[in-house]
Amino acid sequence: MKKQIIVSGAQPTGNLHLGNYLGAVKNWVELQNSGKYEMYIFIADLHSLTGNQAPEKRRQQIMHTAAELLATGIDPKKTTLFIQSDVTEHTDLAWIFNCVTPVSELYRMTQFKDKSERQEKNINTGLLTYPVLQAADILLYHGNTVPVGQDQVQHVELTRDVAKWFNNKFSTDFFEEPKALLTDVPKVMSLLEPSKKMSKSLGEGHVIELSDEPEVILKKLKRAVTATEGGDGAPGVKNLLLLLQHFADKKIYNDFVKAEKDGTIRYGDLKNVLAESISNYFADFRKRRAKLLNDGFDELAEILITGAEKARPVAKETMEKVRELVGIR
Ligand code: ADP
Ligand code: TRP
Repeated sequence: MKKQIIVSGAQPTGNLHLGNYLGAVKNWVELQNSGKYEMYIFIADLHSLTGNQAPEKRRQQIMHTAAELLATGIDPKKTTLFIQSDVTEHTDLAWIFNCVTPVSELYRMTQFKDKSERQEKNINTGLLTYPVLQAADILLYHGNTVPVGQDQVQHVELTRDVAKWFNNKFSTDFFEEPKALLTDVPKVMSLLEPSKKMSKSLGEGHVIELSDEPEVILKKLKRAVTATEGGDGAPGVKNLLLLLQHFADKKIYNDFVKAEKDGTIRYGDLKNVLAESISNYFADFRKRRAKLLNDGFDELAEILITGAEKARPVAKETMEKVRELVGIR
């Protein structure tokens, strides 16, 4: 039987944080190691062009994101790991998809509305058509399953529509509709504003990066909002307990949940234990990341080039067929 195809990506806009990890990346590694899927994971550098990152920073962050994905356990022997812009068919297919996608559907996208508010001086066309490129990323490889966090579900839904619009317009069943795959933690919240999702764009104190040193993790957690600090308390505690559930021993987690119910919980203790648990959990990650980056970018670049070479023939085959279907060859 043909394996299910998994496609997903991460933007090189910053270091991976606990939201990326619990919402998506941890799942990628588990799906990869199950051996049940054909996996394509890429660094979405073209998507990152819709933001305000400087070119030098972007160039460096692409390599850092690659190193971090490898350090979490993405194995280039099992997963086709590549840089999106190395396979130019992504933009070729995105253009064709632009021409079947009603612009009104793009204006509805929550992320477009959010990002337009956050970067009001840079509401570029790419920001609007961003989900169309994402549809191309997925459908280029005939992805069936798209493991992502909650914030990306709307884009995967749009991808399903794009597949339908294309198939209807060109009287074909060439594209299958993919499904989003969520983890049991589809949305990790910010430490400082637990009503918002943990995101790099909120600022440093809001996120814990996988590469944060133990003392940084503790410092950030000490400032995290809990029930005793301000009106927005309970969701903050819930978020910290959720992190504890994933990074500490079950017994420790159960004890804190019980203490929270009894009203005997001490948030200082919770933060100390959580900081230690997260630090320990990512100790090997930090070592592997440092090693990959200390070795310079040559080895990383080679892995990514090999990945693009594996992705390209698949992408080319899809584009050949699409050209034929739409009548441009
Ligand atoms: P960000 O959303 O921080 O800019 P990316 O765009 O690189 O990060 O997202 C990579 C993956 O991580 C996506 O699948 C996204 O849905 C997921 N993700 C990002 N933030 C969170 C979060 N706070 N909770 C759960 N998943 C998240
Ligand atoms: N837009 C996604 C994000 O910000 C990244 C991404 C780009 C992606 N293309 C994709 C995710 C295709 C899944 C499938 O997180």
